[in-house]
Amino acid sequence: MIVLKTKEEIEIMRRAGRVVSQTLDMAGECMQAGMTTGELDGLIETFIRDLDAVPGFKNYRGYPASACISIDDEVVHGIPGKRVIREGDIVSVDVGSIVDGFYGDSARTFAVGEISSEKADLMDNTRKCLQVAIDKAQKGNRLGQISAAIQETAESKGYGVVRALVGHGVGRNLHEDPQIPNFGIPDSGPTLKIGMVLAIEPMINLGTHKVYTKPDGWTFVTADGMPSAHFEHTVAITDDGADILSLS
Ligand code: MF3
Ligand code: CO
Repeated sequence: MIVLKTKEEIEIMRRAGRVVSQTLDMAGECMQAGMTTGELDGLIETFIRDLDAVPGFKNYRGYPASACISIDDEVVHGIPGKRVIREGDIVSVDVGSIVDGFYGDSARTFAVGEISSEKADLMDNTRKCLQVAIDKAQKGNRLGQISAAIQETAESKGYGVVRALVGHGVGRNLHEDPQIPNFGIPDSGPTLKIGMVLAIEPMINLGTHKVYTKPDGWTFVTADGMPSAHFEHTVAITDDGADILSLS
């Protein structure tokens, strides 16, 4: 069941979205080679709480941290810890917040110092995948148009579109209907309605789309060890188009 949000609820979600966006701004500024992912997660948790919000991922289904921090071949859900961030890494940071009972959810991939041109192109194109998807987030469109736009943008460059994980509706729950695959045909899925709020999150791999889960039970990594990028926004369907809620 897709829960539609009122204008008032969308304004609350904009506050939750602003918290995650400001947190990602801070993470991008603080991130540097030599720092551990656990240290970065500590900064993120403090920052979110200082904004009078609650970290949305901490203890969610037993998840132990405030952010997911995934380096290079780690696709998503990397658990922060002792791993050291190094020059040349691409680091995906996924942050959730809860404000007045509603979730914000957003992710970005950051470059640490000089990165390879392959990684830079992967990041640029994954950002583009999110943008083309948001362009399709209009009332009257089918959800499949979002999925297809992402797939076409990624596969035209030869990238792998992760299939094992999808975007999702978001609201009073972090994961609500509908599921939003990053692949599919335009003429499919529910018709988009005013009041839907979607967390659109392409996860794009330089090589194969295949992924597996590490023994920690959370971290997804690419099957071929090639890098992966992830960008996510929380987006409301409104009368005048897509309204990105996760902005600073
Ligand atoms: N943006 C990620 C998702 O929607 C966040 C996962 S949160 C976790 O799946 F708590 F499950 F890690
Ligand atoms: Co999400």
